[in-house]
Amino acid sequence: MCGIIGYIGDRRAQDVLIKGLSRLEYRGYDSAGIVTLKDNKLCLVKKQGKLRALIEELKNNPLEGTLGIGHTRWATHGVPSDTNAHPHLDCSGKIAVVHNGIIENYLELKKALSKKGHKFVSETDTEIIAHLIEKFYKGDIEEAVLKAVKLLKGSYAIAVIHKNEPDKLVGARCDSPLIIGLGKSENFLASDVPAVLDYTDTVIYLENHEVIGLTKDSIRIRDLSGRVIRKKPTKIKWDIAQAEKGGYDHFMLKEIFEQAHILKNILEERLNNSGIVFEELKIKTSDLRRVKRIAIVACGTAYHAGLTGKYMLEEYAGLPSWVDTSSEFRYRNPIVDKDTLVVIVSQSGETADSLAALREARKRGSKVLGICNVLGSSIAREADGVIYTHAGPEIAVASTKAYTAQLAILYLFTLYLAGIRKTVSPGKLGLLIREFKKMPALMGELLDEYKSEYNILAAYAQEFKRYYLQKHNKSCFLYLARNINYPNALEGALKLKEISYLSAEGYPAGEMKHGPIALIDENPWVVCIVTRSKTYDKMLSNIQEVKARGGIVIAITTEGDKTILHYNINYLIEIPKTEELFSPLLVVIPLQLLAYYVAREFGCDIDQPRNLAKSVTVE
Ligand code: M6R
Repeated sequence: MCGIIGYIGDRRAQDVLIKGLSRLEYRGYDSAGIVTLKDNKLCLVKKQGKLRALIEELKNNPLEGTLGIGHTRWATHGVPSDTNAHPHLDCSGKIAVVHNGIIENYLELKKALSKKGHKFVSETDTEIIAHLIEKFYKGDIEEAVLKAVKLLKGSYAIAVIHKNEPDKLVGARCDSPLIIGLGKSENFLASDVPAVLDYTDTVIYLENHEVIGLTKDSIRIRDLSGRVIRKKPTKIKWDIAQAEKGGYDHFMLKEIFEQAHILKNILEERLNNSGIVFEELKIKTSDLRRVKRIAIVACGTAYHAGLTGKYMLEEYAGLPSWVDTSSEFRYRNPIVDKDTLVVIVSQSGETADSLAALREARKRGSKVLGICNVLGSSIAREADGVIYTHAGPEIAVASTKAYTAQLAILYLFTLYLAGIRKTVSPGKLGLLIREFKKMPALMGELLDEYKSEYNILAAYAQEFKRYYLQKHNKSCFLYLARNINYPNALEGALKLKEISYLSAEGYPAGEMKHGPIALIDENPWVVCIVTRSKTYDKMLSNIQEVKARGGIVIAITTEGDKTILHYNINYLIEIPKTEELFSPLLVVIPLQLLAYYVAREFGCDIDQPRNLAKSVTVE
């Protein structure tokens, strides 16, 4: 939620800031702004709307200077507008601030500052930071920031510059991500690594309550008491091409098509002659053997991966498991203790509710395992152990490749637990691993079917649009499945609603009779996941119930299934044959693509759907 960037060096800051913001736009895109320092003057341009509106504005009014900060916004306090866009200035117009996070005590601070004569122009919480720094400023911007942030409650990652200090870029963080990018005679601050990857692959991950002073040739990191902290830089293995569209129309499509390759890499990395390896997992095997139950906690798509994990863990690791959405877990009285392993699944590793759930679980004595994609993210750092999904940067707001990578890690972790807890015989374990190794090729085969622009999913999406218009926009989608593919029904519905804004719900098919069947008339399109499984016959009965009430059925079936042909299915989608356990990895591919093509038919902004942001760092 919101992306920030800062630059100090010899390049034209505007260019670096705009490029960085374009890589951070996934974090928020309702307004954007930059400020640079030139000839002892702050030059500020900010614009409501997507980054392109700011770029247009800068064409007529380019900013010079080699020091600057920038921001792309996802509104929390105050509507998207030019005025509420960042950077924000203090009364004197000498201090500029960009901020990601929420200042919870901003009203209290605003009142106190107003009494002292400070004048505010925006509705944002951020503006008070600029004024607070102004209050403490005595000729040293770093010192003023250090004093100011001590009074802030809530979350922040900030970048700050002062008109009279052309050699200083200052930052600070608490519960919102911030990194330093280290260059030669230049340094960067940013919310996320892709923002600086064009210039450097060496970064420092910052911790809470750290204040950073950068010149173009030096960095200083201090804690709130002013003590200097030494930190090791990290080399980033991602290359910038991963953060670009690479010829695809949208990041989402590119990320969907990357999935087979990522799965292959995960298996190559994690499987060797000695078995399953999690090098970075710091939790001891003896502790994992002792675990009596597992709680998986996550949000959105990561929650759906977690739900699938429950099926795996119960079946193969023999562990009672449950899954919670982070926002519920953190405000309940979750019964977790030293015998519970809490697994937090998060692509970004920064989701505020998941981070709070992690802290709650640790407070209660549980060991916490993070399954994260973003290296060095807060969840990865605060968990007792982490397993990285290594899916590369996921830019589209709708999560796709992170989901299948999370599933892959959950499979491997389940099989690893099954091995060390001896809940599955070595023979069976070997068999499952051999089956799993076939999955990248099967997924690749399936994806190849959809390579052409004119594939059946694109055609089904066109048909749906025609139908929808004929029905005066009354149509919607239902997704039905059972057992280990039930979470995919939820995921398919989530994908569709978040990028096409159509109404879509996922249900366990067995629940239909308990209410949702009342929705069925000739309007809804019902996606039924009816691959070969132990609940196959039950799904066929559900299909009949839907058809009997006029519903339009899209069935996802196993290749070569002849039985389904007798069910008068409207649209058929086949996936390759595989073990039921691993079928979610294949089933989700047409679900992701169907959502993509429907959204494209409706002309939606696929990579940046309305009201959403990639990384939800606020509650
Ligand atoms: O970064 P996280 O995995 O913690 O994010 C969780 C959700 O915000 C995320 O999965 C969200 O639901 C996606 N937009 C789904 O596509």
